[in-house]
Amino acid sequence: MDRTFLMIKPDGVQRGLIGELVARFEKKGLKLVAAKFMKITPELAEQHYGEHKGKPFYEPLVDFITSGPVFAMVWEGDNAIALTRAMIGKTNAVEAAPGTIRSDYAVHTNFNLIHGSDSPENAAREIQIFFSEHELIDYEHSIQRWI
Ligand code: PPS
Repeated sequence: MDRTFLMIKPDGVQRGLIGELVARFEKKGLKLVAAKFMKITPELAEQHYGEHKGKPFYEPLVDFITSGPVFAMVWEGDNAIALTRAMIGKTNAVEAAPGTIRSDYAVHTNFNLIHGSDSPENAAREIQIFFSEHELIDYEHSIQRWI
């Protein structure tokens, strides 16, 4: 079982897409492990996106991600990292495959709605910076056996 960190960005929250995006992951059969509606501080943004420091999009990205509330989540399931990345689609909405979140809802790269961890290492790191151990809920998810 993989665990991944997903975050609906301020544009997704402002556009009222939390419910629709969460529904996609629920319907896929993934298990919700944690969720939090929160604002990201500049310090947390730097921890999360630090690897991109120095790139031309870094400062605008930090300004954007700290501009309003986000909906942070942890989801679990077989291949959850690869599956959710595929469901989200490419960074640039123009290149995102039809049916992906970014193809269906996004127009520009800088307002691309949702973040998803891109590797097991980053998933573990991101989960740990956004959630404490007691916020990761352990429960039986009975549909798993049918998926
Ligand atoms: S890289 O250089 O290939 O590692 O970058 P990439 O993985 O494509 O993107 C890293 C994160 O930066 C966001 N991004 C941008 N934000 C705003 N404007 C522009 N032009 C831009 N380009 C990339 C991108 O969405 C990634 O953030 P997350 O949260 O992972 O989607």
